[in-house]
Amino acid sequence: MLDDATRQRLIAAALQARQRAYAPYSHYSVGAALLTAEGALFTGCNVENASYGATICAERTAVVKAVSEGARKFTAIAVATRNAGSPCGICRQVLYEFAPEITVILVDEAGQVAYEGPLTDLLPRGFRPEHLA
Ligand code: THU
Repeated sequence: MLDDATRQRLIAAALQARQRAYAPYSHYSVGAALLTAEGALFTGCNVENASYGATICAERTAVVKAVSEGARKFTAIAVATRNAGSPCGICRQVLYEFAPEITVILVDEAGQVAYEGPLTDLLPRGFRPEHLA
């Protein structure tokens, strides 16, 4: 379980990252803060594109930033939206690749927690690298 200081650190970072969202089409700003096993934080925001399908979600921005910097062990992620919206299926799957047991925290724009629980509750029986063996 997360201690309260860590939870608040993650939530604050997700809210801050949300301020940097580039969302001129949906106007739905998302911020994410991803905690590594070593205690480092990687943040991300959604980055939309005029070719809508090229849009990248906040959670994947954070994961790709972390992995490209050498981090692969993740313990928690906070996601901030105006209404505590849930991660999309693609982001659930991308998180699952590295951290099936990661704690997911969903907060609204005031930082109010609407959900806190394991990714496996959001993505039961997800596709694992082992399935390719
Ligand atoms: N979005 C995210 O950043 N994360 C999600 O998991 C759900 C959706 C973004 C994508 C798009 O920029 C906007 O929210 C509306 O779909």
